[in-house]
Amino acid sequence: MIATVRRARRLDGDITLPGDKSISHRALILGSIADGDSRVRGISTGADVRSTAGCMRALGVEIDDSVVHGVGLHGLRASADALDCGNSGTTMRLLAGLLSAQKFASELRGDESLTTRPMDRVVTPLREMGARASWPPLEVGGDASLRGIEYRPSVPSAQVKSAVLLAGLYAVSPTAVLEPVGTRNHTELMLAAMGAGVKVEGRLVTISPAERLTPLDIEIPGDLSGAAFWLVVSGLVHGSRVRIRNVGINPTRTAVIDLMRACGLAISITSQRSVGGELLGDLEVGPAPALRPLSVSGDMAAEMIDELPVLAVLASQLPGTSRITGAAELRVKESDRIAAIATGLAAMGADITALEDGWVINGPRPLEGARVHSHGDHRVAMALAVAGLLADGTTEIEDAECVEISYPGFFDQLESLC
Ligand code: S3P
Repeated sequence: MIATVRRARRLDGDITLPGDKSISHRALILGSIADGDSRVRGISTGADVRSTAGCMRALGVEIDDSVVHGVGLHGLRASADALDCGNSGTTMRLLAGLLSAQKFASELRGDESLTTRPMDRVVTPLREMGARASWPPLEVGGDASLRGIEYRPSVPSAQVKSAVLLAGLYAVSPTAVLEPVGTRNHTELMLAAMGAGVKVEGRLVTISPAERLTPLDIEIPGDLSGAAFWLVVSGLVHGSRVRIRNVGINPTRTAVIDLMRACGLAISITSQRSVGGELLGDLEVGPAPALRPLSVSGDMAAEMIDELPVLAVLASQLPGTSRITGAAELRVKESDRIAAIATGLAAMGADITALEDGWVINGPRPLEGARVHSHGDHRVAMALAVAGLLADGTTEIEDAECVEISYPGFFDQLESLC
């Protein structure tokens, strides 16, 4: 599908977002191994989360509209076929951890993009725990007797941390992960809410072997990473006012809001509340009175890794030189996001230079509509759509259907706001 986007005159509206993708994956996986039925409302309808649901069903778990019929820690059964993780790195890495601890062996497959993404980062710690694990193709489990380890991942990754913690539920002794930089903590929060023995001391997370997990009763907050697209456009387009209800504002995810505010965007958070251990609130953004360049480096990049593509678009409209570095991980996401964004934005007239680990962007530069490519990557497609809303003329985004991965209805919502 080719999506056509034109300059937005003014954005106005009140919207809700798809359920948070990270929390949705975890609710399906942890709900599946709970003792009984979990009620999960507002789960993401995106293709990635549907991949996780499909895998859990293949492992013998029944999942209805908003109920996950948990089979207990030892109730999963082998899938007849390889498990299809689609485009979803979170599905593949978290399930590698869980399935490495089962008595049966599993094979995990993905689409062309997922097949090229690094999986040694989960295979290495799982093997250290005594699991059978090999890659490529990713095969895990079949000899379930794991020992606890203290693991120090070299790259900050919530997926790696979560994989090790999930395996740790089944180990004979406690398992700890010491992260180089704190990453999103949804797994720890959900495990604690389910009665598991999780201890968090700074960047050190320890899980004790579990006997059972209590079912969940949760409402999934809206996805802050999806909100970021609207925060950027509404912050830049004169006269806009957009309210986004029920957005997840877990403090391990909100560094992006702090950064946008530091650039001058007027973002307010109201009605803060806690649901199932997760914080949520309503976001409102209006036009920025004065703008400043942005700077992301070192540890900061990991805290806003999914929002960096749209932050590059924002930077193209900020005065002065903006620098985003420390983000080499972007090269191994659903596409090489550093190259995809540099090519797309340069075609639209931005002054952007790709670095090995980020970009240097001089602004503000007027953007011109162009034909650009998503590279099959949902966050690239949506970031370039944001650029299209800020550009003169018409922007055409090739392979735009990939927005379905995390944000079904993205283009309909765009129409309704503009
Ligand atoms: C995620 C962790 C991050 C993020 C991804 C979702 C998660 O990946 O980019 O979209 O749900 O744990 P990494 O763990 O590779 O940093």
